[in-house]
Amino acid sequence: MGTSSRVAAAIVVVLGLVLSLAVVCNGGKTSSFVRKVEKTADMPLDSDVFKVPPGYNAPQQVHITQGDQLGKAVIVSWVTVEEPGSNTVLYWSAYSKKQKSEGKVTTYKFYNYTSGYIHHTTIRNLKFNTKYYYVVGIGHTERQFWFITPPEVGPDVPYTFGLIGDLGQSFDSNKTLTHYELNPQKGQAVLFVGDLSYADKHPNHDNVRWDTWGRFTERSVAYQPWIWTAGNHEIDFAPDIGETKPFKPYTHRYHVPYKASGSTAPFWYSIKRASAYIIVLSSYSAYGKYTPQWTWLEQELPKVNRSETPWLIVLMHSPWYNSYNYHYMEGETMRVMYEPWFVQYKVDVVFAGHVHAYERSERISNVAYNIVNGICIPVKDQSAPVYITIGDGGNLEGLATNMTEPQPAYSAYREASFGHATFDIKNRTHAYYGWHQNQDGYAVTADSMWFFNRYHHPVDDSTSAQ
Ligand SMILES: [Fe+2]
Repeated sequence: MGTSSRVAAAIVVVLGLVLSLAVVCNGGKTSSFVRKVEKTADMPLDSDVFKVPPGYNAPQQVHITQGDQLGKAVIVSWVTVEEPGSNTVLYWSAYSKKQKSEGKVTTYKFYNYTSGYIHHTTIRNLKFNTKYYYVVGIGHTERQFWFITPPEVGPDVPYTFGLIGDLGQSFDSNKTLTHYELNPQKGQAVLFVGDLSYADKHPNHDNVRWDTWGRFTERSVAYQPWIWTAGNHEIDFAPDIGETKPFKPYTHRYHVPYKASGSTAPFWYSIKRASAYIIVLSSYSAYGKYTPQWTWLEQELPKVNRSETPWLIVLMHSPWYNSYNYHYMEGETMRVMYEPWFVQYKVDVVFAGHVHAYERSERISNVAYNIVNGICIPVKDQSAPVYITIGDGGNLEGLATNMTEPQPAYSAYREASFGHATFDIKNRTHAYYGWHQNQDGYAVTADSMWFFNRYHHPVDDSTSAQ
């Protein structure tokens, strides 16, 4: 080693020490609230929230999601049990006459379970910002619902997203959904970060629990779209009982508009909604270089026009930045692949689930490391997203309470409580984010932050005193 390279090595070592001191000494806030640590149970099958609607062949598990890239289409899905019945959705607004749309019906088997008749019908060419009523179950027992289409895509369109992850169907799940519904910061669509029913925690992945979850969540998702992300509990891979096709129940029951964004699989896709561009990624599909997801994302990110949709939001299931001792570093390989792009394209915020707790990061990146240079510590980065883990929907697996200590500097706030959040976009520069925990009143935020848009207002919006 020559003199100059020794000096360089010494500089790297000193720099590393300074960086690591900064990281160790300036942790964010860990809430002092301590919940009792116990697993919660799924609500019993005869619970009110799982009630089957009355009437012959009545549609159940009604749910909607966005059906195109712009928000002018809605996918309506429902299940009938006695017979297939009609695939027709009848819909109208105060300004239009009644129209019909036809869809398709499917069924699947899983071990010793046979599904009901699962209907998916896309309604297209809707007007923006309009309340539509719709009816399913035509010919047998009709049920009527409604939804409101989003405003036309544009840079200063206000819009409020709800955020829920890892919901399941426990008593805590029911509290989370109720808190979301009664939050005065009215969410207009839910960004769901994966792990829906947790049916796979029951013997032989008892798919009856997919049905109960569909009936439980209908009271929200029949009236506003939930944007779906696939989590590990959607994989339903069970070779011991002969079930080797991953995502079988999930893909039969929950459709997403992936083709509209040029995706080749329903696990990664994008939509525009109001002033937001939302990219959904799959932690459980191949994401390495040259894979379909990688190729799609490489082509997708340059398409985001921040003058049209200022807010760039990414959803995934497994978090990249997580200082709990659960699922620690599970997101690391995907972070290594995609984090440089997120910084380059100035993603505003990344929402993930998986860890059953809450955590919000500062704007940091960790892209300098190249195997040989030793620069492997996250640093503050104003081009980087804020990472939020919101896997605290309340499923039967209980809370993640065990955290790494000391709290890393990049972790701005963390707390092991069940809850949900809202992301309230005001205009192209500002959005108000609030996390609500189930033990508080409906209007209380336990953690909040004003987001400054990374493209239009890239001012430091960190909440720590560093
Ligand atoms: Fe998960």
